Formats: sequence, C-alpha cells, structure tokens
Amino acid sequence: MSTLSRIRRRLPRSTGPRAVVPASAGVCSAGAVAAALTGHDGIATALLALLGGVIVAALLMLYRRLAKVQKAGVAAQWDLRTTVEEMQRRLVAAVERERLTAGDRHLELAEAIARVRQLTDRKAGSAQVLSLPREFEATVQLFQGFIPRAPMPSSGDFALNPTDLLELLHLIRTRRPRLVLELGSGTSSVWIAYALEKSGGRLVSLDHEPGYAYRTRAALATHGLTEIAEVRDAPLTPVGIDGRDYSWYDPEALADLHDIDFVLIDGPPAATGPDARYPALHMIEKRLADQATIVFDDAGRPDEQAALADWTQRYDGLTREGELLGRHAVLTFARPPAMATVRG
Ligand SMILES: C[S@@+](CC[C@H](N)C(=O)[O-])C[C@H]1O[C@@H](n2cnc3c(N)ncnc32)[C@H](O)[C@@H]1O
Repeated sequence: MSTLSRIRRRLPRSTGPRAVVPASAGVCSAGAVAAALTGHDGIATALLALLGGVIVAALLMLYRRLAKVQKAGVAAQWDLRTTVEEMQRRLVAAVERERLTAGDRHLELAEAIARVRQLTDRKAGSAQVLSLPREFEATVQLFQGFIPRAPMPSSGDFALNPTDLLELLHLIRTRRPRLVLELGSGTSSVWIAYALEKSGGRLVSLDHEPGYAYRTRAALATHGLTEIAEVRDAPLTPVGIDGRDYSWYDPEALADLHDIDFVLIDGPPAATGPDARYPALHMIEKRLADQATIVFDDAGRPDEQAALADWTQRYDGLTREGELLGRHAVLTFARPPAMATVRG
C-alpha cells in the first residue's frame, strides 16, 4: 500500500458536514438578503449572526481537519520509516540468502571435483588391475629365486612392485655388486639382502623416518639378514646445489662409504618436497666405484624425469640403459679415466 493511500485511509470520511456548512451559509446569506430587502431588519440581523456562527463552526471544523491531516502525516512518516526498515531487512536477508547459495555452489563444486578425483583414481585403479597378471608373474618368479626364512613384507604402493623387484634382483645377481646403497628402506631391503646373501656383498640402507628404519631393521632381523644389511637413520637436512636449497639425507650417514657399485634411489618420498631425489647424484657421485649401476625408481614422474635429464647431461660417465621396466630406470655409471685418477 502506498504512503498516500495510507494518509487517505487515516483521514475521516466526513462528506456530510462538508456539504452542510456551505448549504447553511448559502441559506443564511440568501435569507438575510431577502429579509433586508423586504424590510425585516431583525430577521436579517439574526440570519447574519447565524451566518457568523456557521463560519466559526466551519473554521473550527477546518482546524480539526488540519490537525487530523498533520497527525496522519506523522503516522505516514512513521509508516514510511517502518517500510524502509522492512525493505532494508528484506535486502539484507536476500543478500545473506545469495551468500549462502554461493556457499552451497562452492560446496557443490568441491564435491564435483572430489567425484572427478575419485573417477581418476578409479582409472589409476583400473591400470593397477590391468597390471595384475604381470605383477603375479613377477611374484611367482621372485619366490622361485628365494625361499624366505620368514613371511616377506608386502610389495607395491610405497614399496617396489614385484616387477621392479624382479629386475632389481636380476641386476644384483648378474652384476654382483660388493656394496649396495639404498636410499629409502623397506621391503626392497629384505629382498636385496637375500640376493646379496647369495651373490656376496652388503647393503647399507638410509631412511629419514626412524619409524620405518626401525620396521626395516626388525624385518631384516626376522629374516636373519643383519650380517648382510644395515639400516641407517639419516634425517633430511638442507643441502644446497647450484644456489638452490633441497632437503636430503644427512650426508654424515654416508661419510664412511666408498666404492659403492650399486645404488637404489627410492627416497626421499616426493611428499618431502619438490625434486626430492635430485640431490642424490651430487651427494653420492664421489663415493661411487669407477663402475656402478644405479636403479632409479618412479622414473616416469616429472621430477624424476627432470633429474634424469640433468644428471645424464651433467655427468659424462652416466648413461641410461634400455626402456623402462615397471616404474624404474637403470643407469650405468662409468667414471671417466681422468676423473678416476683425480678421485684416487
Ligand atoms: C618409497 S619408500 C621406500 C620403499 C622401499 N625402497 C621399498 O621398496 O620397500 C621411501 C620412504 O618412504 C617412507 N615410507 C615407507 N612406507 C611408507 C608408507 N606406507 N607411508 C609413508 N611413508 C612410507 C620410508 O621412510 C621410506 O624410506
């Protein structure tokens, strides 16, 4: 309802007195004139007095009406304020509703992203399912090569896949390293130790997580392999290469190692920082034997691809062998003769 109509609604609907006053004034005036013309002065005077009374009454009515109009105006002003306040409240509520709707939309979007992630994971899962026969074949071959003295810890996920383990053990069997350095301990440490038990040689494995180091030590002890393999605690520490800071195993853990002829790079995990494994070659190069084999796990990931490209360009004697089998790459290190002399 508009403010004007509110004012109208508040005003009294008094059409009766409005018509009576001019009519009475008209009758009195006409009567007074007629009486004066016909010589009835007394009547004319009385009618004029009545006319005066009618005028006073009309003025009183006008005054009352004006007072009512003013009152209605004040009330309408109050109404207007109430209306404006009500509109403000509605506006704020509408904005709040929009804000909540936007929040809902954000939530819906986040859920949609999560669903896409799930689908992607399922795709990754289906890749895992497709690789099952290959991993099964590799597992059978692994256990044909060794009869473990206790249940083996499981492979896959954070640990090397059976396919990668099979290739790793084949390399150890055929190249017969004397000193194997493993960066990142776990199931692979037990398998490597079994292989070295047969071929001769020892394993030093570094782990930045005391909990995982402890678990690997316990597994090695259960399998009776502590003479062959040791796990060293090597917390991640800052290392600088070409002006850039990385986080890598404490070099102190390597201080007594020389002539390492086989390396498995399977740590630190990518979650510890970008290019987590890049420092490996810089940190171990001078401790390598003149001929060494390097197995680099997760070589298909972007950070590892970049590290491979940099290393093979930077180190003359470093070459990559064949195609990827499983997730790892194999590199051969042959120290250039001039460098071999310098190192000696
Ligand atoms: C890729 S894992 C090393 C796996 C090991 N070479 C193997 O094949 O069993 C690298 C590091 O991740 C940590 N790690 C092992 N298992 C893990 C798990 N399930 N979750 C998180 N970190 C893990 C350990 O500190 C380990 O040294």
